[in-house]
Amino acid sequence: MKKYAFLLGSHPLISFLEILNILSVEKIPHGSIERMAEILIIQLKTTDTKIKKLQEILGGTIKIIEIVDDYRGTIFQLDKILTRENLLANYFSQHSSKINFGISVYTTKSLVYAEINWLRNFAYQLKRRFKDKYSIRYVDEKNFELSSVMVANNKLVETGAEIVIIKQEKSFLVGRTRTVQDFRSYAQRDMEKPSPNPKSGMLPPKLAQMILNLSRDTGQNQVFDPFCGSGIILQEALLVGLEVLGADIEQEAVDDTVENLEWLIKTYNAAAPKLGTEKIKKISIAGKVRVADATRSRWEKANQTNTFIATEPYLGPPQRGPVLIHHAREIATQLETLYLGFFTNLKKNFPKIKRIGIVFPIIKTNEGLLYLNILDKVKDLGYIRRDFLPAEEAKKEALATHRGGLLYSRPDAFVIRELFVFEKR
Ligand SMILES: C[S@@+](CC[C@H](N)C(=O)[O-])C[C@H]1O[C@@H](n2cnc3c(N)ncnc32)[C@H](O)[C@@H]1O
Repeated sequence: MKKYAFLLGSHPLISFLEILNILSVEKIPHGSIERMAEILIIQLKTTDTKIKKLQEILGGTIKIIEIVDDYRGTIFQLDKILTRENLLANYFSQHSSKINFGISVYTTKSLVYAEINWLRNFAYQLKRRFKDKYSIRYVDEKNFELSSVMVANNKLVETGAEIVIIKQEKSFLVGRTRTVQDFRSYAQRDMEKPSPNPKSGMLPPKLAQMILNLSRDTGQNQVFDPFCGSGIILQEALLVGLEVLGADIEQEAVDDTVENLEWLIKTYNAAAPKLGTEKIKKISIAGKVRVADATRSRWEKANQTNTFIATEPYLGPPQRGPVLIHHAREIATQLETLYLGFFTNLKKNFPKIKRIGIVFPIIKTNEGLLYLNILDKVKDLGYIRRDFLPAEEAKKEALATHRGGLLYSRPDAFVIRELFVFEKR
């Protein structure tokens, strides 16, 4: 088994749980797991190809780093570890005489001035040491935290290395970045699709991936989104090879979804040979997305044991400031009716579906946060909230709600997302 470090995104708790569920769904054997604030260190029995695949599907992982060295000591001893021989053999992936390299440090306590100074000197010394045979370039980032964009733009993974130093309690892990999130592809999926629908809310593709990855169980290869909007969740599902089914109460949303999914297949498959990526299965979208009310419709195609739900229903009107409490209560009451109507219909018409990943809204009001108060009723219908973490651990998590949901929000948002996965009893 090799040791890897996963650099987690802006919502590290969701990222962490997403990784755990996917390792289990994909049956990737793993050893010990250690969670730091923004990093997950884990031993995996896997291949480079699978690591690349994991990076593509995990919305919450920014970089995957392969750990090469592990030592006790201080940062000032790094030169004893990162010798020329070690760097050439285990870090730099130079295919020519050109080497581009950078250094990132992840630590729970910020580096002190002397450490930063020493590291910068070390980097420039390295550059001098390799100058004899190589054309070497150091990508200097003053805070020693290279973004995935910098790693990709400077081609560090392909032509050299991003050397990553992880400072633990009493030791250091040193490794090299194997993959980073493909920011260009996310931007394309997000911004270039033919029918974006600002009305149905803009779900970031990375969050759509995380919802899918948290909701799935082993053996489930078909996803149904009964509130599909413009099809963002279904788009991400297609990319990982899942079968997709979608529905929306609005004809316009259904048309948008069909157009966006057809565009995705065409664009990706045209680019695949050049990018060396796998093609998406060519399917006909017609017949897979339809107009239907999630609180009353039935659809045998979706009522299957291999099917799970991943969905973001209507979260209420967008808000530009804290909502007055009496108004927020009116909105919440309407949404509670919609959500309960959906769960009631699920029980009646989709009894074979066992897993439901779903976003609830939390409204920021002038008197604090207002949650949808329907968990007991959902439980009475037979849908049990999945505990992501043991109760004691969950209480300490700033990114989990008091009732075990996972928080996803932007600092300036007035409607916050609360993620749940339910399991049918
Ligand atoms: C937040 S959007 C969904 C965004 C979507 N998850 C995506 O990936 O693009 C909510 C959608 O729910 C739809 N909707 C509202 N009430 C519905 C109902 N009773 N049945 C089905 N769809 C409904 C709306 O038309 C809207 O398109």
